[in-house]
Amino acid sequence: MLDELKQYAKAYSIPIICDDGLLFLKNTIEKHHIKDVLEIGTAIGYSAIFMAKQGCFVTTFERNEKMIQEAKKNIKSFGNQIELICEDALLYEGSLRKYDMIFIDAAKAQYKKFFEKFSPYLNENGMIICDNLNFHHLDSTKVNRNTRQLMNKIKQFKEFLINHQDYETTFYDDGDGMSITKKVVKK
Ligand SMILES: C[S@@+](CC[C@H](N)C(=O)[O-])C[C@H]1O[C@@H](n2cnc3c(N)ncnc32)[C@H](O)[C@@H]1O
Repeated sequence: MLDELKQYAKAYSIPIICDDGLLFLKNTIEKHHIKDVLEIGTAIGYSAIFMAKQGCFVTTFERNEKMIQEAKKNIKSFGNQIELICEDALLYEGSLRKYDMIFIDAAKAQYKKFFEKFSPYLNENGMIICDNLNFHHLDSTKVNRNTRQLMNKIKQFKEFLINHQDYETTFYDDGDGMSITKKVVKK
């Protein structure tokens, strides 16, 4: 099923996590015994289904109507494990549980806002994973203004993570640049 979704995403130019990124998620889930995941950015449900197949319970946000329709079809048989919230994550005012892992994979310009809004929903030993922090290794002098602005936003977000007093972040070159952020244990 995941292969079919990957082909579909390719055919319709839908951005989904790359194989390397999936492996990174798999290893993290296994190593830290992750059970409850909050995902920002469902698209067609590819990464959510992958995490459900690893045994996780996934709450996932999607705001784009076309994506929502596709995701609903795809996650049908994972009804007990995947909860799709069809709303802009930043406008959501409903309740949430606490999660072992928060996976941020939505609008790149909003990463800081996602982090600030959802980090309070992290379990004590939980972690926040972000994707696309290398932004395809593009050269900022060879891209258009919009892309350059986006790259700048990602750079600012990385600096925000590095300088955050309450969280510590490790950056990885896996996939398109991933990070793991954990709460600083205060002594
Ligand atoms: C990179 S795709 C997600 C890919 C998915 N995680 C995967 O790997 O299969 C990003 C998705 O986030 C959604 N998105 C962007 N900003 C959002 C927001 N504020 N709230 C909810 N969804 C958002 C977009 O519509 C898009 O479908």
